[in-house]
Amino acid sequence: KVVAVIMVGGPTKGTRFRPLSFNTPKPLFPLAGQPMVHHPISACKRIPNLAQIFLIGFYEEREFALYVSSISNELKVPVRYLKEDKPHGSAGGLYYFRDMIMEDSPSHIFLLNCDVCCNFPLPDMLEAHRRYGGMGTMLVIKVSAESANQFGELIADPITKELLHYTEKPETFVSDLINCGVYVFTPEIFTAIEGVSTHREDTANLRHVSSFEAFHSLTRNLPKDFVRLDQDILSPLAGKKQLYTYETMDFWEQIKTPGISLKCSALYLAQFRLTSPHLLAGGDGTKSATVIGDVYVHPSAKVHPTAKIGPNVSISANVRVGAGVRLICCIVLDDVEIQENAVIINSIVGWKSSLGKWARVQASAVMQFSLLYSLGSFGADGDYNAKLGITILGEAVTVEDEIVVINSIVLPNKTLNVSVQEEIIL
Ligand code: GDD
Repeated sequence: KVVAVIMVGGPTKGTRFRPLSFNTPKPLFPLAGQPMVHHPISACKRIPNLAQIFLIGFYEEREFALYVSSISNELKVPVRYLKEDKPHGSAGGLYYFRDMIMEDSPSHIFLLNCDVCCNFPLPDMLEAHRRYGGMGTMLVIKVSAESANQFGELIADPITKELLHYTEKPETFVSDLINCGVYVFTPEIFTAIEGVSTHREDTANLRHVSSFEAFHSLTRNLPKDFVRLDQDILSPLAGKKQLYTYETMDFWEQIKTPGISLKCSALYLAQFRLTSPHLLAGGDGTKSATVIGDVYVHPSAKVHPTAKIGPNVSISANVRVGAGVRLICCIVLDDVEIQENAVIINSIVGWKSSLGKWARVQASAVMQFSLLYSLGSFGADGDYNAKLGITILGEAVTVEDEIVVINSIVLPNKTLNVSVQEEIIL
C-alpha cells in the first residue's frame, strides 16, 4: 500500500498571498476552477494501491471539512485533514502524525508541498524510486541560474541520480537544479526525523560555546519537535546513498503570490485540455457565449451569450457575466457580478465583488496572455507581477460604472468611484 501526505501549512504561512488569503486558506484558492490542493490530490489518484491521502496543516479543521468530505466521495479514496496544534516544520508535521500515516502499514509515503504547480508525475517517481533503492526520491527541475536561489539547490550524480549535495536557498550559486517539493519516501524517513530531534536535544544540553556551535546555533535553538525537511534531513543525508532525484522536463511553478496563480491557472487549464476536456467550457456550459482558448466556467455561473471570454479565464460559482463583457486571462471568484460591457484583463476579482457597466479592470500591459506565453516571457523565475502587471480586487470590492482600474491592488470592501493606476488601495 501507498499513502500520500500533502503539507498545507497554516494561516501564518500564506501572507504573501494577501489580499486573497484573508478569508480563504491559500490551499483552497481556485486554480483552473479547482482548489489549489485539488490538483495534487487528483494526481495522487493515479498512484497504484493508494490507501489514503492526508492533508497536514495548522488551519482550523472546519476550513477544510467541507472540501475533504466532498473530495473523498468524488475520488473514492479517504482524504483526511490532520491539524497540528502548532507548526512543526515540513518534516516535523509528518512525524507528528506518524501513527496515523502508518495505520495501513504503507510501503511508501508520498510527501507533497501544496503550493507547487506541476503535473505531479507520481507513478513515474515511484518506479524510479524502487529502481534506485534509497530511502527517498525527490522531484527536481532545471530553472534559470538567476532564479535558483529562491529554492533548494542541489547536485545530483548524472548517472546514478543520487543526491550528492543539497543547500536550501543558498546565498551563493550552487546549481540550477532545484527541489520541486514533491517526494516519495520509505517509512525509514520517520527514523531519520526522529534522529534530528534526538540530536538537537543532545546538543542543546551541551552548553560549551565554540565557533562550530555558534554557526549551528540557529538550528540548535529550534524546538526539538520542529524539523525542516530541507535543512535538517535533505542536506545532511545528501551523498549517503539514501536520497535520489527524479528530474521533470514538464512545467513546474511555485505558487507564492497571487500574480503567479494566474499563470498556474493557465497551466492547469492547458492540462485539462489533455486530461479532462469535459471540465473546459465550450457550448452548453457557457450558454453559447464566445469562448476562446482554455476557459473554465462553474455550472452555476450565468454568462450572457454576447460575452466573449478567454483565453485563460476561470469563472467560479454564481458569477453573473452581463452582455458584451470581455474577459481575458483572469480568475473571477464566487458571487461576482460583472455588468454590461465591462472588461477584465490580467486580473483576479475577489468574491462578491461587482463591476459596473463599461468598467475596466486590467494590468498595464494589455497584451494577450497567450501571446506573451508563447513568446516565452515567463520562466520558472517567479515575478509574474513585475513582468506583466496584474490587478487584484479583494473580497467585496465595488468598481462603479465606467471606472478604470489599472495595475492596482484593492483591499476588501472598497468602493472605487474614481479611476486608479499603479495604486494599492487600503
Ligand atoms: N503542516 C505544516 N506545518 N506544513 C508546513 C509547515 C508546518 O510547520 N511548514 C511548512 N509547511 C508546508 C508549506 O505550506 C509548504 O507547502 C511546504 O510545507 C514547504 O514550505 P516551506 O518549508 O516554507 O518551504 P518553501 O516553500 O519556502 O520551500 C520549499 O519548497 C520549495 C519548492 O516549492 C523547499 O523545500 C525548497 O527547497 C523547494 O524548492
